[in-house]
Amino acid sequence: MKHTLLTLTALALLSGSADARTWEAIKQSGTIKIATEGAFPPFNMTKGKELTGFEVDLANQLAKQLGLKVQWVTQPFDNLLIGLNQDRYDFVIASHGITPERAKAVNFANPHYCTGGAIVTRTGGPKTAAALKGKRVAVQVGTTYLENVRKVPGVGDVKTFPKDTDAQAALMAGRVDAWVGDKFTGIDLVKAQKGKVVQGDMLFRERIAMAVKKGNSSLLKELNAALAKSQANGTYAKLSNQYFGQDVRCK
Ligand code: ARG
Repeated sequence: MKHTLLTLTALALLSGSADARTWEAIKQSGTIKIATEGAFPPFNMTKGKELTGFEVDLANQLAKQLGLKVQWVTQPFDNLLIGLNQDRYDFVIASHGITPERAKAVNFANPHYCTGGAIVTRTGGPKTAAALKGKRVAVQVGTTYLENVRKVPGVGDVKTFPKDTDAQAALMAGRVDAWVGDKFTGIDLVKAQKGKVVQGDMLFRERIAMAVKKGNSSLLKELNAALAKSQANGTYAKLSNQYFGQDVRCK
């Protein structure tokens, strides 16, 4: 986390210049460049060669509504906001929780879902923050899970993994006592690993949003308008139901 904090602070300082493509420039080109990780099911992942997931489908729909073609870029999670501030793509959709630290480096759109970070453990393992005392916990690097697990009093070894799915695998292999990840991802893991793991308490709640380069207000405005429209006309609800069996928008 220390490393990530420094990186984001440095980004905040470096991101003054507004070379990012404005809405006008994007519209004129006809194609929007969107970045995600592609390894965070069910939000953004690959199926065979195809990029899919709730956020991928949602972004594709928003782009369609805006009359644009999409060019997808995948990057390791920890690089996504850095690449954004280097103008490698127009926006990022990768389940970033809105945090004060990140908000110094980028601008967030209105949240596209609300969720939380929850504990998952093998049957009989630690299910509460108090029970994590002295326990080994796996989390994905650069995430709010890491930030929040570090705050748990007396927590044991916190092991970081480049991908969330690697952190889950560490739990399944018995190399850690718990994994902390997204609430909905946890529900899917429990289902997939029938009887082997259980979901415990939610450690924190968060609002998840797309990010544009700091100062790119013209693009931000269009993204917010497209999201509002899809939330008003049923498109969002349909997609959310398809992935989660419920509407995951922030209430
Ligand atoms: N919601 C968490 C955060 O804000 C995790 C996001 C991880 N996203 C991903 N594509 N791996 O840090």
